[in-house]
Amino acid sequence: MANILLKNGEIITMNGNGEQMVGDIYITGDTIKAIGKNLKSHPGDKVIDVTGRVIIPGFIQTHIHLCQTLFRGKGDDMELMDWLRKRIWPLEAAHDGDSIYYSALLGLGELIQSGTTTIVDMETVHHTDYALQGIAASGIRALSGKAMMDKGKEVPLPLQERTSDSIQQSVDLMEKWHGYDSGRIKYAFSPRFVVSCTEDLLKEVKTLSDRYKIHVHTHASENLGEIEIVQRETGMRNVTYLDYLGLANERLILAHCIWLDEEEKRIIRDRKVNVSHCPGSNLKLASGIAEIPHLLDKHISVSLGADGAPCNNNLDMFNEMRLAALIQKPVHGPTAMDAKTVFTMATIGGARALGMEREIGSIEVGKKADLAILNLNDFHIYPSYDVDTISRIVYSATRSDVETTIINGKIVMENKKLKTIDKSL
Ligand code: GUN
Ligand code: FE
Repeated sequence: MANILLKNGEIITMNGNGEQMVGDIYITGDTIKAIGKNLKSHPGDKVIDVTGRVIIPGFIQTHIHLCQTLFRGKGDDMELMDWLRKRIWPLEAAHDGDSIYYSALLGLGELIQSGTTTIVDMETVHHTDYALQGIAASGIRALSGKAMMDKGKEVPLPLQERTSDSIQQSVDLMEKWHGYDSGRIKYAFSPRFVVSCTEDLLKEVKTLSDRYKIHVHTHASENLGEIEIVQRETGMRNVTYLDYLGLANERLILAHCIWLDEEEKRIIRDRKVNVSHCPGSNLKLASGIAEIPHLLDKHISVSLGADGAPCNNNLDMFNEMRLAALIQKPVHGPTAMDAKTVFTMATIGGARALGMEREIGSIEVGKKADLAILNLNDFHIYPSYDVDTISRIVYSATRSDVETTIINGKIVMENKKLKTIDKSL
């Protein structure tokens, strides 16, 4: 693999103290080897002039459904449970391997084009191997897993599975994909939500997660109707129930977490559970506004995700960051969620949720080279003097401002050709 030297970019990263500088980044193989001024190149290196460009850590989205990209826009009139039963489950039930593969590729193209370099993805019940083939081919870093659904009267027949099949198929996929491409792909057990899972299944997931040190990715406390079902069936609220089963720990990623009581917040904080905040989806499905400033005050791990394309229409992180900031301001005041806070959630916050804060999420020597190069010189984003770059990224940038995406040291997307300095390469 050729080494890459990025020359003279504005480096924006939320490291310990949010270091920012204009300088060079030298990438060897999959790793950032040096950051500094006037770094030297070596024969055979690809040297790219990024003068006037902004280099950021690639975005990390901690809740995505690639299998739903083909259903983009399907939902503007229903809350969660009706939307799942009437729209999404019948569509997921109609998927075959090919449609899952192309749904995944469509989503992956959009994600990479808009600077996302890592995703946590939940597939549907069947054909997950095809989505993982798409993930493998795209070059993205991912945790992914098949949805587990062994309960629910209103689940369409093709999505109903026996507990033992759900477990066995998950384990087969884990054995095939966990650790693929030197760990670029990892498996995540993905019980869809408490509503669709038996206690036997969740207990087995707990055992397997502990045995293999595998993350668990699920939805929780997204909608009041969902919470009512969980309460009726288990006598508990979502997070309390997951904790009772032993699942609440630092390997658990919980999408949404809008309606938490004090006990659930305490569990999430004490057990170091990770919350994936999906503001676009929470608005479109009328689910609610998550109390993110409150969770951050408690030092809870919060990261961001676009969820699926039907409940958002848009998988890009710029959209999620902007919404995450804007929806809190009328509720909690103008300083509640500033641009730096949401940029942190979109980068190093995601790395923390994956237990990978030493490998990804910021631009530091020794970390993986997962980067996005932005051109913020277009008229719509050009700043009046004194507006900091992170604020411009959060409030003005769009996916068309992403020029290049690098994952694991590989250029996976070049939108507009930047000048390669050494023409012999
Ligand atoms: N809860 C269970 N399944 C889903 C899903 O596919 N999308 C969302 N937003 N919530 C869910
Ligand atoms: Fe979801």
